[in-house]
Amino acid sequence: MVAKRSDSTKEHWQSVYTSKLPHEVGWFQEKHEVSIEFINSSEIAKDARILDVGSGATTLLDDLLKEGYNNIMAMDISASALAVNKQRLADLIRWKVADITYPLDIEENSIDLWHDRAVLHFFTSNIEKQGYLENLKKVVKGGGFVLIETFSPEGAPQCSGLDLQRYDEGKLERFLGSDFELILFKRHIHSTPSGSERPYVSTLFKRHE
Ligand SMILES: C[S@@+](CC[C@H](N)C(=O)[O-])C[C@H]1O[C@@H](n2cnc3c(N)ncnc32)[C@H](O)[C@@H]1O
Repeated sequence: MVAKRSDSTKEHWQSVYTSKLPHEVGWFQEKHEVSIEFINSSEIAKDARILDVGSGATTLLDDLLKEGYNNIMAMDISASALAVNKQRLADLIRWKVADITYPLDIEENSIDLWHDRAVLHFFTSNIEKQGYLENLKKVVKGGGFVLIETFSPEGAPQCSGLDLQRYDEGKLERFLGSDFELILFKRHIHSTPSGSERPYVSTLFKRHE
């Protein structure tokens, strides 16, 4: 059988999430304050459709449910990554195992808010970035929002042993293109569970109607 481009990515993340507890990974965050602040400021309805790409074992899902959002899909390339949250939150969330760099079977123009924390920056090849962008443009509706959080240029060049492409708000703006308007951004520091500092940029874009 021919190995798919995504096989090694999947294996990497499957092994991360089977060898570590959710709060042991460097990107663990107890509260996703910037994401929640940006999502609330978008003023989407509580039943707006939110897609969290590369959701992993994030506590963002709990934060969103507490805020009253009730139409959330969590997707990830690794079933193990989603397993802990799936066991706890079960029917409160819709779950999808898929590679975001391959064509996604989600209806066109159906997503009100795309959320990505610490996923896009792992895509270093044009084919991965292009695949990601095509999915985003297919599913995010006109007037919808895109929230992307990545390592910023002064951040570490690697995470989880993988090379990263770091972004600032301008680079994310150029990546998404003229159909998306940058409406908010914030540079901030994430402290890892082991106490290291990770500079991030969070951005909120609105797609033109
Ligand atoms: C650094 S973790 C961030 C997890 C989560 N967003 C958070 O903030 O806790 C990156 C996540 O992206 C997922 N991922 C990596 N490559 C992916 C791909 N091609 N498609 C979908 N998910 C992917 C990994 O399995 C992992 O859960």
